[in-house]
Order: sequence, then structure tokens, then C-alpha cells
Amino acid sequence: MPRYLLSVIDDRCPVDEAFSRVLHYFDPNKKKNIVSSVLDSTCSIMKMWTEEDRGKYRPTTNDTRSEIEADFHVCCSKLDRVLDKRFDIIIYDPPYVNLKRKDAQDAEFCYNYEASGTIEELVSLTERTAICFRNLISKNGIVIAKICDFHIRGRLRGSYDIQKAFEENGWFLHDKVIYRFYKPIPNLVSYSLKVPIAHTYFLIFKEVTTANGNYDQNAALNIERQALSILSRRRAYENQKMRQV
Ligand SMILES: C[S@@+](CC[C@H](N)C(=O)[O-])C[C@H]1O[C@@H](n2cnc3c(N)ncnc32)[C@H](O)[C@@H]1O
Repeated sequence: MPRYLLSVIDDRCPVDEAFSRVLHYFDPNKKKNIVSSVLDSTCSIMKMWTEEDRGKYRPTTNDTRSEIEADFHVCCSKLDRVLDKRFDIIIYDPPYVNLKRKDAQDAEFCYNYEASGTIEELVSLTERTAICFRNLISKNGIVIAKICDFHIRGRLRGSYDIQKAFEENGWFLHDKVIYRFYKPIPNLVSYSLKVPIAHTYFLIFKEVTTANGNYDQNAALNIERQALSILSRRRAYENQKMRQV
């Protein structure tokens, strides 16, 4: 495994190898000769896992679908109700939005496109999940979130929304790695006036409070600023509504 990681990995490297590089690079215990405890909160068929990593980490697995082989079948936002241990690494690879790949029957079982929800549902799920993960993460632990961008109602959504949902709920973005596809996602290619999506992200989040108990001032300030801006926008909206009455 290389000691460094570039910010872009291209898909001549299969997704399980790309994920493996991200997992090992950001593993908080990599220098301690300890095997990190891992929770894959949306595991599906574990396409992102190499055989070697599965054997090494033996991740705790979860997926809402009962037909998926997993340790738990609960919503990832409620995992803190069934698990009473902390994890060094939590994986979050939520369901896609706005994606119905007609060309990919073999991928349907893994990604469950037919069940994909709206962007609002994804944001709400992520906000609740970010809160839940704070009850499950160990000191120095990380969340690895994998997310694509999507064109929805004339706007690009996806990675921005996931980042915002985590940052408003006690996490900060520590790093970001792009996984580049050579073949753009098929359903988005048809949007001829938009840029077809040809990449996904691995977003690495850490909790605002650091392991040694020190407060991460920058991250905390960011959260405070965001909260204030939401509050002032809400006040402006309420004032405007009052004036209309
Ligand atoms: C993009 S796929 C994950 C693929 C997986 N990382 C892999 O490598 O095979 C998303 C998965 O999340 C599951 N899922 C959807 N909503 C969920 C929820 N609220 N909690 C847990 N799992 C959920 C879906 O059933 C689907 O299997």
C-alpha cells in the first residue's frame, strides 16, 4: 500500500482497491499495530471490500434490506439503539438519488436503484445518521462517506448536501478523495446541457471534539457560523412572512 494517496483515483483501479487504499490510508490505528473496529452501515453486497480487507477487519455490517446478508437490518440512523460499542471507522454509502440505470441489471441488486428516494429524504437520513454516528464513533474515529453528485431539478446535489448534513451535526470534513469513472453515469449523460457526472467522492469526516479532549476550534467555529447563518435566514424568512400577513 503506498504511503501517500492522491486526491484522484481513476477507475482503472477497481472500486474495492480504491476503497482499500482510502481505508488503509485514513485508518486511525495504522501506526499502532491494532486492527481498527469497523462498522459498514449500508453494506449491501460489500462490493467495496477486498477479500483481504474483509478478513483483516471483519466489519460489523448493516443494511435495511432483509435479503442482504448482514449482522443488522436497521436504519443506519438508528444503529446506536442496537449497538453498544464504539467503532474506529464507520462506512456510510447511502442509496442513490435520481438514478435508474437501465443498462445495469447486474448492479440493481447491489445498489437497489428502484428504491432510491428524493434528495430531501437523503438529506434527512444523513442528518439523523450523523447524530447517531456520534454515539458510535471511538476517540480519533473517522466516517468514510461515499457519495456521487446528481442533477436534480436544475441543480447539482449530492456531495454538498452530505457534507452540510454532517457539518451541521457535529462533524467536520477532514479530507476528500475523488474516484473517477471513465464511463459517465449513463442516465445523466442524456442531460445534454449539463456536465455528465464521471466521478464519486470518498468524504472523510471527523468529530468536532478531538480524541485528546481538545476542542477543534476551526471546526467548531464553522459549525457556529453555519448555525448562525441558518438562524438569520430563518428570521428573515419569518419577518418576510409576517409582513405579507
Ligand atoms: C449504494 S448501496 C451500498 C453499496 C455497498 N457499499 C457495497 O459496496 O456493496 C446502498 C445500500 O444502502 C441500503 N440502505 C438504504 N437505506 C438504508 C438505511 N436507511 N439504512 C441502512 N441501509 C440502507 C440499501 O439497501 C443499499 O443496499
